[in-house]
Amino acid sequence: MNFQITSEQEYQAAYNKSVDQPEEFWNDIASNFHWREKWHTTLKWNFETPDVRWFDGAKLNITENCLDRHLEQRGNKIALIWEPNDPKERALRYTYRELYQNVNKMANILKNMGVKKGDRVCIYLPMIPELSFTVLACARIGAIHSVVFAGFSANSVADRINDSQCTVVVTSDGLNRGAKQIPVKSVVDEALEHCPSVEKVLVVDRLGWPVNIHTGRDFWYHEELKTVSDQCEPTIVEAEDPLFILYTSGSTGKPKGVVHSTAGYMVYAGYSFANVFQYKESDIYWCTADIGWITGHTYILYGPLLQGATSVMFEGVPTYPDPGRFWQVIDKHSVNIFYTAPTAIRSLMASGVDHVLAYSLHTLKTLGSVGEPINEEAWHWYHTHVGKGKCPVVDTWWQTETGGIMISALSGISELKPAHAGLPLPGIQPILVDGEGNEIQGNDVEGYLCIKFPWPSMIRTTYGDHERCRINYFATYKNLYFTGDGARREANGMYRIIGRVDDVINVSGHRFGTAEIENAINQNKKVIESAVIGYPHDIKGQGIYAYVILGDLEANNNNQTRDEIIESVVEHIGRIAKPDKIQFVSGLPKTRSGKIMRRILRKVAEGELSSLGDTSTLLDPTIVDEIIAGRLT
Ligand code: WT7
Repeated sequence: MNFQITSEQEYQAAYNKSVDQPEEFWNDIASNFHWREKWHTTLKWNFETPDVRWFDGAKLNITENCLDRHLEQRGNKIALIWEPNDPKERALRYTYRELYQNVNKMANILKNMGVKKGDRVCIYLPMIPELSFTVLACARIGAIHSVVFAGFSANSVADRINDSQCTVVVTSDGLNRGAKQIPVKSVVDEALEHCPSVEKVLVVDRLGWPVNIHTGRDFWYHEELKTVSDQCEPTIVEAEDPLFILYTSGSTGKPKGVVHSTAGYMVYAGYSFANVFQYKESDIYWCTADIGWITGHTYILYGPLLQGATSVMFEGVPTYPDPGRFWQVIDKHSVNIFYTAPTAIRSLMASGVDHVLAYSLHTLKTLGSVGEPINEEAWHWYHTHVGKGKCPVVDTWWQTETGGIMISALSGISELKPAHAGLPLPGIQPILVDGEGNEIQGNDVEGYLCIKFPWPSMIRTTYGDHERCRINYFATYKNLYFTGDGARREANGMYRIIGRVDDVINVSGHRFGTAEIENAINQNKKVIESAVIGYPHDIKGQGIYAYVILGDLEANNNNQTRDEIIESVVEHIGRIAKPDKIQFVSGLPKTRSGKIMRRILRKVAEGELSSLGDTSTLLDPTIVDEIIAGRLT
């Protein structure tokens, strides 16, 4: 790894070079990877169309970089440690050679099922080793993976499959989640009633459950495994060929398929992993995210494997069998680098510090946080009780669309400040702008966070709808990528992320559009209209507050109707998007042109009743009093 920064001076030098000579900067980093053919053009870009191309002319396969090239030196090194949901079940360990063989077998199975380069494969699996095999197997054969988090409902799965016209789905009989076992294959069966593009389904046996097998369409993984070889030649792709699609929510009702390229994503995943976590050859690294989200893609699989690291993959939840599980697993596997989400920290904080103090945690060197702003209290608890005051906490700001960490301290190198993401990684050029898109210069300022220069792992398009990508990210401010976040730049140049400034809410680090949840609520026949907002929630960061107008006034304040509305959300999106509070109202605060004043709803939900502003211009000002009177606390 010639690109690992080891001091603050090196950081500054690298940062300056990345701004002054970006192509040379990235050429040096990219030369650490294995290419079948080198690029002829490092970067071509235009943020207006947008069109961004990195390492044009290069040919490669990312799995050769994640697996093959490690075989000689690290063939017997553990690549993946899989920790099951139930601590009594045996953990599984895969060396680089074993992972390589399993990926090749899965790749051959997919090929036998007809998957070809460029085809889309939907992966709807829990956190079991086969999920990792499948993701990498797609990459091995040049197929585009679209992982859908296994907590999404049949409707959501169907929408995602149809949007990208997947031909194959890989799934399991069911999944473990703490003390519960949850069906998975039956969700796929329901989704596939509406997915004509899907030809074949591969089913992994996790729970030993009987499932419906549609002859000719569905195949058991363990049966197919018997007939395939553990060798599979990698399919060589072009730098800009898409590696994967990952759906994420925006401010409109329909989630969009964020498309990442192969070469740029690879270079940035490896580079950012090595630098932020300051990974060293013998480190055991654990990221607790689910591979259904971008964090799992980049920092459980690609980033660590690109560096030949040992990565822990955890099937379970932080609270099972008790709230000491994370700490027990850290001791069990001697974890050195631990990367989790503020919501998990806050929920474990609430269960009391004794669960942490019961474990040694002496192997820890670095702690990471991701997904939402980490409040100071949680930061200190994490630093003091988990890190014993000796582990840097890196607060990593990034997004599904950025592919990798953008603003963060580098562990042990950068200055730390609780609740501050810190400085941009070399290669990343953030700026703050005002409402008109004018750059806000200097420090101790606040504005909309944008990025003014391309980086290798940035979003390339939204699947099937390039215009949507342009409008969402590149049209708000000319020649800038707009993140959707507001931020402060402190006196020392460090960034502090404030949160979303669009109609996106972040619940336990999961992103939802308010319109998306409203659509789901409105599916309920009793509902005439609804408005959803995020409100501060002690554990989840933001909770979901729904204001609902019912047609049948009898149903007002009726718990059964509340349950039915929650059921609509579970059915249309998934259990992760359940509203925390539902308030029935007879109307919503609207402007004379009919626009819902969410700002007022947010203030009421937050209890900030004295700062509602002028409500006299509303269509019906009296509605605000009704909403205040019925406020759920
Ligand atoms: C949004 C992106 C990429 C990781 C998982 C979430 C918020 C993410 C931080 C942080 C403050 C953060 C932002 C961002 N966010 N990390 N360290 N501090 N806010 O990915 O679902 O694409 O959501 O999460 O608001 O825009 P995502």
